[in-house]
Amino acid sequence: MIAAVSHRFARVQDPFGTVSFLGRRMFLEDHWYAAGFPGELGREFLARTFLNQAVVMFRLEDGTPVALEDRCAHRRAPLSMGRLIGDTVECGYHGLRYDRWGGCTRIPGQTRVPPGVGVRAYPLVEKHRFLWIWMGDPEKADEAAIPDYGVLDRPGLRVGDIRFHLDAHVQLVIDNLLDLSHLAYVHGTTTGSPEISETARMKTVQDGNTVRVLRWMENVPPAPTFRQFGGYEGNIDSWQVSEFRPPTYVRVSYGSAPAGRGVPEGDWYEDQGHWGFYVYHGLTPETEKRSHQYRYVAFDPGMGDARTIEEFRSQCDRIITEDSVLFPVQQASIDRDPAPTSARDINARVEIVHDGGLLAARRIVDGLLAEQAKDRRGDGAGGRPAHLCHDE
Ligand code: FES
Ligand SMILES: [Fe+2]
Repeated sequence: MIAAVSHRFARVQDPFGTVSFLGRRMFLEDHWYAAGFPGELGREFLARTFLNQAVVMFRLEDGTPVALEDRCAHRRAPLSMGRLIGDTVECGYHGLRYDRWGGCTRIPGQTRVPPGVGVRAYPLVEKHRFLWIWMGDPEKADEAAIPDYGVLDRPGLRVGDIRFHLDAHVQLVIDNLLDLSHLAYVHGTTTGSPEISETARMKTVQDGNTVRVLRWMENVPPAPTFRQFGGYEGNIDSWQVSEFRPPTYVRVSYGSAPAGRGVPEGDWYEDQGHWGFYVYHGLTPETEKRSHQYRYVAFDPGMGDARTIEEFRSQCDRIITEDSVLFPVQQASIDRDPAPTSARDINARVEIVHDGGLLAARRIVDGLLAEQAKDRRGDGAGGRPAHLCHDE
């Protein structure tokens, strides 16, 4: 329980002094971010970079997940090149050892460890089939702020997971998920059909910092995936909702039914009619130009036999692969643009009718980044290096 352990992490101010475009920090820090899937973590080191911070993750002997700064306090060797001795990490260069809180417990050849020697420790928990890491001030870490992906815990639910490492800013992935008109062009052989882009009724709803983009199509030919797995012979009614919450939480729901049933109205999320599925995304910036994407597609077991389900699962993997091809080339194109820009702003030269959701999401992130920058200025933080964060 984070509530029980967070007091063990001392406050770390502005660990990297990162200032971004226009003097603001590029990433929202006081949030939980997806760090991977629980099955990836064991007694071997798992080294990843999140929000420009190198992190090493592993499990204690009792299975508790732990995350530490992947940079020894001595000569900055990655701790992930060292070894685990029980619940202690030993640096592979000169043998300094660290406990689970990042505190240095041993320096070879010395009887005394000077106070204040250590590396940063990050709260890390597993919930709703994801690992979640808190990248900001550990004192503020609260498990209740982890997004409610409780659907993934439903008994009997079938899920397929996939992981990508994308050469693109995370905002480009969020844009993609909040504008499903691209299905008509990128996924035309599976979930896409022209109606999604051309004739769907759309609504963008903002509720606090949550944005939902709803799309409804009535009496339309089913897209190939819906025809194949939904068993439709005639036209259908179909609906989609993409939901965004800061910093990067996105989930999408697809539903359908034989034409005439009508599409649900309102800000629903759960109704999937005769056939549909959910997609849950864990999106985490690695740097300003690289991102992690962890995704579950989830569906009820009643949608087909084992072979059908396997076919659908592999089709979903093909679909997300089609998207993943786009992001790096989009990023490269942005990088080549001589106009002053940032990956977050992407310098779009036109706004189209399908952009409502993603623009709302960007405005929310912009506002929170500005607040964060103001708070940090108020803290007096300003580019000081990371230092000890162990308070025992
Ligand atoms: S760099 Fe880690 S002990 Fe020297
Ligand atoms: Fe897509």
